[in-house]
Amino acid sequence: MKAKDPSTRLVESISMDVKDWWPKHIVESAWLEHTPFAAWLISALQPRIMVELGTHRAVSYMAFCQASSKLSVPAKCFAVDTWKGDDHAGKYSESIFRDVQDLNQPYENFSTLVRSKFDEALSQFQDGSIDLLHIDGFHTYEAVSHDFSSWLPKMSQRGVVLFHDTAVHKKDFGVWRLWSELSEQHPHFHFSHGFGLGVLSVGANPCPLIQCLCALVSDQKKYEEIQSIFALRGRDVSLTYQKRLDAAAGQHWRASLDRNIKRLWRTMIPISLREKISKMRR
Ligand SMILES: C[S@@+](CC[C@H](N)C(=O)[O-])C[C@H]1O[C@@H](n2cnc3c(N)ncnc32)[C@H](O)[C@@H]1O
Repeated sequence: MKAKDPSTRLVESISMDVKDWWPKHIVESAWLEHTPFAAWLISALQPRIMVELGTHRAVSYMAFCQASSKLSVPAKCFAVDTWKGDDHAGKYSESIFRDVQDLNQPYENFSTLVRSKFDEALSQFQDGSIDLLHIDGFHTYEAVSHDFSSWLPKMSQRGVVLFHDTAVHKKDFGVWRLWSELSEQHPHFHFSHGFGLGVLSVGANPCPLIQCLCALVSDQKKYEEIQSIFALRGRDVSLTYQKRLDAAAGQHWRASLDRNIKRLWRTMIPISLREKISKMRR
């Protein structure tokens, strides 16, 4: 039998490994559209240790945990965040961390929330130990360059680093600039939907499917095919979120209309007339 070429194996693994996978945790986040890719990446890379820098409401992190659990990948996962916010994400309340603690409960046997600054968490990880690092903290060029260079020694021989917001050029966002430098130096793949996600292979001994993914850089047609598979799946996730928002807004609108009619009824119509109308209704 003729051996399948690597990109055919890649497309097959994308359609088979995560076909029944759907994120459970869908809330507001710029990361929603990448949750299907998170599942595929867990299945393809089979990370032993995964670390996320920047978790906030945990859309990305829960996607990694859910996929590890569902696909029985024995990963140890760590989410590092102060859970206080920053100038890009905004400062937020303590209830966000409590919500993430609740979300993490089903995964507590393999997932740990590390509430600290990224730099403070470094000493908890051995050099060469992390297979998957997701960098999604503060997005200036200086901050993201610092996060990358300080965590790089922790990456394993088959290490993959994800960068979110590579397609955001507004204000002082600078992930795009670091990405353009790093993608000259390492095998990589890039998604431009969902604010941009860069996939960088930094180890000397990458896993075969990641090697295949990065090799597509030289095959424009296949590259775009893979991009659009994940962009379409991601769009389904964000449409689901949008529909839930619209439904909640509709409910809110109907409830407030109800309240306003009742208020008008009480304030504009004299009590004697209200009593008469009530009697007629009975
Ligand atoms: C863009 S949000 C993360 C979004 C998240 N990945 C998602 O799926 O929606 C960035 C987070 O990084 C955290 N953060 C930024 N810089 C940090 C630092 N140096 N140390 C710890 N946390 C940091 C902020 O508190 C914020 O919650």
